[in-house]
Amino acid sequence: MDYLVTIDGPSGVGKTTLGSLLAKELNSNFFSSGKVYRNIAKYLNSNPSSDISDISLDINDELEITLNSISYQDIELYEKDVNSKSSEIAKLKEVRKLVSKSLQNLPKKLSSGLIVEGRDMGSVVFPNADLKIYLDADIDIRAQRRLKQSNDSETKEDLLQRDENDINRLESPLMIPENALYIDNSNMKMDEVVKLVIRSLEPL
Ligand code: DC
Repeated sequence: MDYLVTIDGPSGVGKTTLGSLLAKELNSNFFSSGKVYRNIAKYLNSNPSSDISDISLDINDELEITLNSISYQDIELYEKDVNSKSSEIAKLKEVRKLVSKSLQNLPKKLSSGLIVEGRDMGSVVFPNADLKIYLDADIDIRAQRRLKQSNDSETKEDLLQRDENDINRLESPLMIPENALYIDNSNMKMDEVVKLVIRSLEPL
């Protein structure tokens, strides 16, 4: 069965870990929508005089992102200045429109299901997904997880700032989508979360 599953939640909550494990379990594709915002942020940081309207965005059937024919390495997308810039540009209506349209075209390009994570995947981009998950965890636990994840880790304050931007923006703020499966994984192992999600998909 080719499911479309969305995972939303704040930064550092484990969306990518959960999404990748689920994709393996369901033989599906996994895509992190934050990467698209990060590509745009990286491009605008590198080309400060360019405008959003100059950007041509493509996500192909291999889930590779190109922006005006440029493709960035993952390592370049997780630099500190890209973290803050991505949260900043994610407030802009025209950026959200551009990204949402590309994402909505994605499922029909793929030969199997899609697990997609972000901040507005279930609330705005794919409100009719087979399953919408909202993943949550305590801020201290999220900050600890982020610290283990990368060299240029975000502090608890950085995470709080980004969450605040994402929750309080006018355009597609981070929220629990209607009919979402809410999971607080502060005290859960990720394989328990995976089992819980698979059980929720079984009746579908
Ligand atoms: O998930 P991430 O940390 O890679 O996301 C980077 C930023 O992109 C995040 O601070 C907010 C923005 N974003 C968004 O606004 N909507 C999404 N669906 C995904 C990411």
